[in-house]
Amino acid sequence: MTDIHKEPMESVSITFQLNAETVTLSVDPSESALIVLRDRLGLTGTKEGCGIGECGACSIIVDGKAVNSCLTLAPQLDGRNVMTVEGLSDTPLGQSLQKAFAETGSVQCGFCAPGILMSSCALLLSNPEPTREQAIEAISGNLCRCAGYVQVLGAIQKASRISSINDSQD
Ligand code: FES
Ligand code: FES
Repeated sequence: MTDIHKEPMESVSITFQLNAETVTLSVDPSESALIVLRDRLGLTGTKEGCGIGECGACSIIVDGKAVNSCLTLAPQLDGRNVMTVEGLSDTPLGQSLQKAFAETGSVQCGFCAPGILMSSCALLLSNPEPTREQAIEAISGNLCRCAGYVQVLGAIQKASRISSINDSQD
């Protein structure tokens, strides 16, 4: 009989910026960022939908880019700047987005909305005045079974306008 001996994986220490706070913790190298954020750090705004990179419900922003946290290994967060939906209201752009989503009726359920907000935020961070086509592309990885995309596209344009007005008043 073959003796299969499995060594336990050694945990690794990671340190990263999470919603503007420094976080240090030990993680299993095979743990996903999604599990760490939700189960270890209690940030349950990030949702688990498919778990295989197809629905976008788990979207977070890492170094300015939207990524699927279910496909990101926790050690990949080390040294990075991470924002979850909980951190949105701490930024002027996040506040503009939340306002625009509320005013356009874009938040129809709490499941897809956090991921769509994060993808929209990542878009506006890199491109403050996106075209409709660029906005469609940015949220193309976020599935909404109710297909409320028209309102979301309106919200992105509205947030873009609110942000540029705020910027011009600074
Ligand atoms: S849960 Fe990550 S893409 Fe669906
Ligand atoms: S509004 Fe969330 S799945 Fe459609």
